[in-house]
Amino acid sequence: MEHFPVINLEKLNGDERNATMEQIKDACENWGFFELVNHGISHEFMDTVERLTKEHYSKCMEQRFKEIVASKALEGVKAEVKDMDWESTFFLRHLPESNIAEIPDLTDEYRVVMKEFAKKIEQLAEEMLDLLCENLGLEKGYLKKAFHGSKGPTFGTKVANYPPCPEPELVKGLRAHTDAGGIVLLFQDDKVNGLQLLKDGQWVDVPPMRHSIVVNLGDQLEVITNGKYKSVEHRVIAQTDGTRMSIASFYNPGSDAVIYPAPALVEKESEAKNQVYPKFVFEDYMKLYAALKFHAKEPRFEAMKAVNSNLSLVPTATA
Ligand SMILES: [Fe+2]
Repeated sequence: MEHFPVINLEKLNGDERNATMEQIKDACENWGFFELVNHGISHEFMDTVERLTKEHYSKCMEQRFKEIVASKALEGVKAEVKDMDWESTFFLRHLPESNIAEIPDLTDEYRVVMKEFAKKIEQLAEEMLDLLCENLGLEKGYLKKAFHGSKGPTFGTKVANYPPCPEPELVKGLRAHTDAGGIVLLFQDDKVNGLQLLKDGQWVDVPPMRHSIVVNLGDQLEVITNGKYKSVEHRVIAQTDGTRMSIASFYNPGSDAVIYPAPALVEKESEAKNQVYPKFVFEDYMKLYAALKFHAKEPRFEAMKAVNSNLSLVPTATA
């Protein structure tokens, strides 16, 4: 079994730059997931994010989870529950406009820290996108530009906790899915595991590692790379002991960004075989995803192709 890819970003600054770029390329082509260490976000700051997130969960979220989910979800259930997840979450939007001020129950300190955390993650996401451009032979800034739309990228953080579950066989922490957007950066619990990805038909653990950031690719990067990189299915297995913290930040296209395969990455051969990914407006994809998140991605791509070919049948005014 190959090892889950761990990339030491510091090595980009020295003699091992080429080997490190090669590792990133291999991870993007064969895993859709990798773990970053020495990524430039200080351990001390990450510890603060973790402490405040855990304090917020036990003060404001845990009781609510017990009342709403834990007490009812498994009552009299014998077969696997397929319409819910064993998780407690809230969502922070950072771009195009922050909603942090409107989220109830956050302390002032937590708000300030999460804003700062988002800034650092945004920078790291953009740095990663440029490393991907380099590996793909796209000009620097291509992906950032592709995500830009009229208002810049959509960027947000899902703060989740996966509480202990008495029956992990009956309910998933989070059901299997691929991520819809661009690139995802995850700060996950270093003790309580549970995140798994699907590789070659087998579920593989994404190992907890203190102070690392897990990166994974979403459906939009699969479209833009015309399938050279793929979004990969993943899920969270609920654990009987311990609460798993997961802070996932999604760097996605702006809602009106038009997404399509980079012309430089579409080979003549795939064009001839009609194996080119669709072109669409990102928010149209998200509408579809909202209803079909826990389904395979291929029908989503097919549906977007259909929308696009309908559009091309509509007579257009000459410009
Ligand atoms: Fe996900």
